[in-house]
Amino acid sequence: MSYSKLFSKRAQALKSSVIREILKVTANPQVISFAGGLPSPEGFPVAQMKAAFDAVLSNDPKSVLQYSTTDGYAPLREWVANRVSVNGAVIAPDQVIMVSGSQQALDLIGKVLIDEGDKVLVETPTYLGALQAFSLFNPNFVSLASDDDGLDADKISAADAAGAKFLYALPNFQNPTGRMMTEARRASLVAKAREHDLLVVEDDPYGELWYEAAPPPSLLSRMPERVILMGSFSKVLAPGLRLGYIVAPVEIARKIEQAKQATDLHTSTVIQRAVYEVVKDGFLDEHIPRVRALYKKQAHAMIKALETHMPAGVTWNQPAGGMFLWVTLPEGMDAERLLEQAFARNIAYVPGAPFFANAVQSNTLRLAFVTVPEATIDAGIKVLAQVFAQQ
Ligand SMILES: Cc1ncc(COP(=O)(O)O)c(C=O)c1O
Repeated sequence: MSYSKLFSKRAQALKSSVIREILKVTANPQVISFAGGLPSPEGFPVAQMKAAFDAVLSNDPKSVLQYSTTDGYAPLREWVANRVSVNGAVIAPDQVIMVSGSQQALDLIGKVLIDEGDKVLVETPTYLGALQAFSLFNPNFVSLASDDDGLDADKISAADAAGAKFLYALPNFQNPTGRMMTEARRASLVAKAREHDLLVVEDDPYGELWYEAAPPPSLLSRMPERVILMGSFSKVLAPGLRLGYIVAPVEIARKIEQAKQATDLHTSTVIQRAVYEVVKDGFLDEHIPRVRALYKKQAHAMIKALETHMPAGVTWNQPAGGMFLWVTLPEGMDAERLLEQAFARNIAYVPGAPFFANAVQSNTLRLAFVTVPEATIDAGIKVLAQVFAQQ
C-alpha cells in the first residue's frame, strides 16, 4: 500500500527538525555536543520531585489519577497568576491555562489564531520550534529586524504590521541567540503594538535564568490586554515533566481551552499536582539561584574558551542569562557545510539557518553550553576553532 498519498498536505510539508537529526549524531559519547538545547540535569530537583509524587499519590490517589479539567489544576493556575502579576499588572487565574509543555502552547496558539496565508511577525532569527509549530497552519512569516539588544520595534513598518495576526517575541535570553530585549526596546515594542493594534505572543522559558540581574519586566505586565504569555517548568524544574502555561486575555484563553480539549483533554493531573506540591511553599526561590549560578559559570567558561581559541573574524555575543550564545562567522562561510567537518572531529553545534523564517544568514550558529563540563567546553571549542580556522 502506498501510504504517502494518504498524508494530508499539512503532513506532506512536515520536515524532521535539523536539531533532531543532529541529536542522533550526538548520541555517540565521543562527540562533544554544543548542539542540544537540553537543560543541565544537575539542576533537576530529584529528591523534591520524588517526595512530591509520593505525597500526592499517598494523600489523594483517587483524584490525582483521575481525568481533570482542561484549563488545569486551580491552585496551580492561581500560583501562576500570582507569579506573573508583577510591575503593577494583576493577572486573574481564569486567564491561565496549564499546557503539556510550552511547545503545546505554540501549537494551540497556531490552531486558534492562524488561517492559511495569515501574516505572523517573527524575530530574526527566532525559535525553530515555533516556526515548526506555526508552519502547520501555513502562515506568511514576516521577519523583523533584531540585533544584540533584541527585536528592534522601531523598524516595524506600517506595511509589516498591517493585518498581522500576532507578533511572536522572545524577550529573555532568546533561543537561539541568548539575546535579551533591553528596557528601551520593550518600551518601543509596547508603543508599536498599541499604534498598530498588534497582539504579541511572549515566549519566556528562560527569563528566570539570569546571571547578574533580572531582565526588565515582561511585555505581559506592560500591556496584559494585548499579550499572550507562554511559560514553562522545563528550565526551572525539568523538561520531562512536560508542563507549561499560557496566560491570555480571557476571551482568547477560553478559545485556547476549547482547542486544548480537542487536542488532549487536559494536562496530566498527577504531574500538575506534584509540581504544585513542589512550588507552593517557595521552593523555586531557593532552587533557581542554584541553576543561575551553574549556568553563569558555564557561560563564562564558553566565552573564555571562545576568546582563547577562535580565529580573528569570528564573533559572538555575551548572553546575560539562559543556555545559548550566537556565533557569527566571516561573510561567505556556511555553518551548515562546516558541520560535516566538525562532526568528523567529534564536535556538534546547530547551524543558524533553520532559525530564520526568511533571508537566511548561513554564516551563523548556535552554541549551547549548559550540559558540557567546563574542561570539555575548552577542549571542544579549541577543536571547533581549528575547523573554522582551516577555512
Ligand atoms: C523559546 C522556546 N519556547 C518553547 C520551548 C518549548 O519548551 P517546553 O515545551 O519544554 O516548555 C522551548 C524549548 O527549548 C524554547 O526554547
